[in-house]
Amino acid sequence: MLKISSVKAIQVFDSRGIPTISCKIVLENGISASAIVPSGASTGSKEAFELRDNDNNYHGKSVLNAVNNVNEKLSHLIIGKDPNDQQTIDELLISFDNTNDKSDIGANAILSVSLASAHIAAKANDIPLYQHFSKVYSDITGTNVEPSMPMPMFNILNGGEHADNNIDIQEFMIIPSNAENFAQAMQWGTEIYHSLKKILQSKKYSTAVGDEGGFAPSLKSNEEALKLIIHAIKDSNLEPGTDIHIALDCAASEFFDGKKYILEDGNKNLSSQEFADYLYDLTQKYPITSIEDGMHENDISGWKILTEKLGSKCQLVGDDLFVTNEKILRNGIDQKIANSILIKYNQVGTITETMQTINCAGENKFKSIISHRSGETEDTTISDLSVGLGIGQIKSGAPCRSDRVAKYNRLLWIEEESNNILLK
Ligand code: PGA
Ligand code: ZN
Repeated sequence: MLKISSVKAIQVFDSRGIPTISCKIVLENGISASAIVPSGASTGSKEAFELRDNDNNYHGKSVLNAVNNVNEKLSHLIIGKDPNDQQTIDELLISFDNTNDKSDIGANAILSVSLASAHIAAKANDIPLYQHFSKVYSDITGTNVEPSMPMPMFNILNGGEHADNNIDIQEFMIIPSNAENFAQAMQWGTEIYHSLKKILQSKKYSTAVGDEGGFAPSLKSNEEALKLIIHAIKDSNLEPGTDIHIALDCAASEFFDGKKYILEDGNKNLSSQEFADYLYDLTQKYPITSIEDGMHENDISGWKILTEKLGSKCQLVGDDLFVTNEKILRNGIDQKIANSILIKYNQVGTITETMQTINCAGENKFKSIISHRSGETEDTTISDLSVGLGIGQIKSGAPCRSDRVAKYNRLLWIEEESNNILLK
């Protein structure tokens, strides 16, 4: 049995220069491991609560109260416990906070301990983190999983909340569907990214990048973005619709006024039906196989229209819609909306709850996609989570900026060291 001897958190910084929490756990035998919590910008309203100080420091964004909650409160719960038992650790953390949304202690405080606990267990057992996650998943859900490499979704053009431009759709992603392995997917993704950069330069567009490393030029329309991506795919000697497919994250909650979808593109004010038709038309013209948050998280009738119209031909992903929450996902499944879920562990707050949501998705034939947040760090836990659970898909931004590329680089090492794990 392993035994935790100390739990210590400090305030560190994410890719936007905003404070976040890093937690280090030390075992009685002296081995230590740490993890860092990410943070979103276009957040769903039902996400677990991210505790920030809201005082005069760091524009209100510091997390020193959450750090103190780890050091003064959660550490006492966890010291002496065995990190092999992730579920017990997480249940102790969850029950210490009396609220449904973890707003007492802070989901960021709780998650930092949950993640560090998984890291220390893997390290002490001298196994890769992804193998540890496979074991934890079967302990928690009773379902055995085979590790496999995920298909990456590279966000190469940014709009919405992640960029200061006039594109409504937050993320335009490429999926190297025909790649034989992860390394080839990476090669295709980076080649297209650099082809796109050359095209933007030739058209005198900015090549400054948004929060997730994708370019954020001031384009005239959402369709212009799609045309540029098709151009970049062809310039890389790849075939759109065969080698490469396109995924969108509309993050539609950000441009819905309660009744209409307000698009800067052509100054359109669209009803849910009209916006569903708009997305449908895009899928007819371009090889789009995945659309995330195609409707506002509370526009359930809009989600029904979209799912009826596109659900059989397109992956419809709930991010702000489901916020990695099993209860909210079950509700959506009952209502027959969407067919896939984005998984971000800081939306719910622990590894255990994240795995329970993934299991619920699988049991209901929903696909899962492991995701970074727009505020990220050098932490690569999501790479191992995607492999260990055989999830099949990961989105971690552009193949640019170390906060994004760190996840892809970790996946390249996993593929190298376990060459029997195939791309799904
Ligand atoms: P967020 O963006 O991390 O700012 O929420 C990512 C996404 O919407 O998928
Ligand atoms: Zn999203």
